[in-house]
Amino acid sequence: MNKLDILCIGTALIDSIIKGFDPNPISASGFIADSGSLNVGGEAVNEAVTAAKLGAKTGILCSLGQDAAGDMIISSLKLNGVNTDHVIRSAENPTPVTTMFVNADGTRKSITNSSHKYNFHPEQYPDIIKNSRAIILGSLFRAPFNEPEVIETVLSTAKKEGALVFADTKLPNFKVLSLKDIKESLPLIDYITPNEDEAKYYTGKTDPSDMADVFLSYGIKNVIIKLGGKGCFFKNDKQTITLKAYDIKAVDATGAGDNFVAGFASELLLGADLEAALRFANACGAICTTAVGACTAIKSRDQVANFVSNSESSLTI
Ligand SMILES: Nc1ncnc2c1ncn2[C@@H]1O[C@H](COP(=O)(O)OP(=O)(O)OP(=O)(O)O)[C@@H](O)[C@H]1O
Ligand SMILES: [Mg+2]
Repeated sequence: MNKLDILCIGTALIDSIIKGFDPNPISASGFIADSGSLNVGGEAVNEAVTAAKLGAKTGILCSLGQDAAGDMIISSLKLNGVNTDHVIRSAENPTPVTTMFVNADGTRKSITNSSHKYNFHPEQYPDIIKNSRAIILGSLFRAPFNEPEVIETVLSTAKKEGALVFADTKLPNFKVLSLKDIKESLPLIDYITPNEDEAKYYTGKTDPSDMADVFLSYGIKNVIIKLGGKGCFFKNDKQTITLKAYDIKAVDATGAGDNFVAGFASELLLGADLEAALRFANACGAICTTAVGACTAIKSRDQVANFVSNSESSLTI
């Protein structure tokens, strides 16, 4: 079997998005809204779709129910060129559906339910993990990566085969883990990519460099703090790189972080040096925000590479 470039592991779900929700009822139990739509999402899906569009040979290891929501995710993954051979279809656990209410004033509420706890054990599929040049944990600290043993087994399997390990993060939902709780696994992570809020939460620090120092002190090799509209910050034990955000008109930041990570990993695997890969990732995040939806704006590697060359002057280090 040919090796995958990237295996994305973790969250796959459907977002049911109700926009323009009016909280005033029109009858005893009836409400109205401007629109309702079903959207394929979850970090592992967003990362896999983006990496595949960028040209990486990409697979996904995730668990879906044997239901219509699962079929929808599979068809979207296939349409975008993601290898779905390793998607588990569980008879017991339904595909998670997140319900999201976007009020007319733009504020939003999202509701997760017990299906988001995912009774999914990626550590039981070592052959797939071993057959990948790199793995991306969709979200460290969220199921299935909120169990220390799952994290340790998956990461040590990957590292034994010399795979690169990228870990994106999320704030906890059902189960809370601290860095200390997973200290044995942290030295197995090559790149951790929290956003600013997540980094603050897990490190207790407010300055990106201090946040990075905490992660580095646990043995994580490289730290990238994603700073939204401010760009990103990189630190390892040798160097620090700060990149300002590209100057674009953002309309929807959903999935910007996932696009960033997918872009960074795929570019490193193509042989780019660290700074070039960061620049490329910074562009992937920026481009993602220019259209509604997590996987809409990025079309190809050429598109991002052209964006990087044409936008050079608006970027300062
Ligand atoms: N308004 C913006 N303008 C330019 N670039 C942006 C903007 N917002 C995000 N980006 C780019 O996208 C990257 C990731 O965004 P962000 O920090 O929001 O990640 P995130 O919170 O993990 O996103 P998500 O979890 O929603 O996918 C940033 O580091 C930056 O490179
Ligand atoms: Mg994120």
